[in-house]
Amino acid sequence: MKKNKQDFSHLSAKQPIGIFDSGVGGLTVAKEIKRLLPHEDLIYFGDTKHLPYGEKSSEAIVGYSTKITSFLLEKNCKAIVIACNSATANALKEVLDLVDNSVPVIDVINPVAEKVSYEIHNNVGVIATKATVNSGLYKKSIRKHNKFIKVDELATPLLVPAIEEGFKNHPITHSIIYNYLSNSKLKNIETLILGCTHYPLLIDEIRQYYGNRVRVIDSPSIGANQLKMILEK
Ligand code: DGL
Repeated sequence: MKKNKQDFSHLSAKQPIGIFDSGVGGLTVAKEIKRLLPHEDLIYFGDTKHLPYGEKSSEAIVGYSTKITSFLLEKNCKAIVIACNSATANALKEVLDLVDNSVPVIDVINPVAEKVSYEIHNNVGVIATKATVNSGLYKKSIRKHNKFIKVDELATPLLVPAIEEGFKNHPITHSIIYNYLSNSKLKNIETLILGCTHYPLLIDEIRQYYGNRVRVIDSPSIGANQLKMILEK
């Protein structure tokens, strides 16, 4: 029978926290979690075998995400962190169904969307993988809280391979960033959400492109704070 109430009283503080992503991107979230919760044990699953999720079908992403979640539950994790926007956008519901309120599930889109929607942002841009942009989840989630915010989403698929190849501070990456950020869709934005957990690895280069004109949201710290709040409760 499905549980419809969250009751986490059976969980013990000693259990590890399970975190997953398609590759190294989720480490930006894991690093923030380690900073905020230094005494916690973390299990990190980077599904590099199936990277990039951003180019896969919803069905495939659901399959990978539920399999990894089962693995992390078998490892006795007391919370599951979906440290991947593409997995959140395509498989959050299925992961929640599988977990069935046995442990808390933290994703990387809803806490960011909620925070942005309650602050002063009028024109928000989101850069993300194709799988995240196609889901429209950022727009839906922001507009659920504040329907006056204009949200423009742009798929920026070349950034993940550049990061996985280690091309940080590299002319190739600079030219990819320039080409994407100068897209007319992002012309009037005041705020940019990095809608992929890989992208904070390029946050300095992205901030450099904008100077002080656009606020670039530090998404990993928002998800990590949400986890801390839930665990404290
Ligand atoms: N880190 C993933 C995300 O946040 C993107 C990488 C991929 O395409 O697998 O969407």
